[in-house]
Amino acid sequence: MAPSVIVCNGCCCGNLEKGHDKVPFELLENEWEMHELNENIPLKFSGCLGPCSMRNVVILDTVEGPIWLGGLSSDEHYRGIIEWARDYATNGPESGLSEILQQLIFERTENFKVREPRKNF
Ligand code: FES
Repeated sequence: MAPSVIVCNGCCCGNLEKGHDKVPFELLENEWEMHELNENIPLKFSGCLGPCSMRNVVILDTVEGPIWLGGLSSDEHYRGIIEWARDYATNGPESGLSEILQQLIFERTENFKVREPRKNF
């Protein structure tokens, strides 16, 4: 299975009405397009991925397995995702995850399914 980056756009993640931080969907789309990442590591927006309490969830779905990140709240976090994707598209499993993203990793053993995203961003 090809690697991808899956950004939750479900009932809670990025939902300002629920007090969650904004998710910069447009920034991510623009950066993916600018760096032509979609061919090697597609960006996907999904409905709820399951662990809503982790707030603003992203999965780095690598060939080695999914890396779950939660609590993304700043541009620095999302810039880190973009940098990781650029690195992974070039170097594959040899690429590293920045320290700021490593702090957001959480364990999750359940499988996930990409779902129809919320449309209001
Ligand atoms: S809405 Fe993102 S994990 Fe549920």
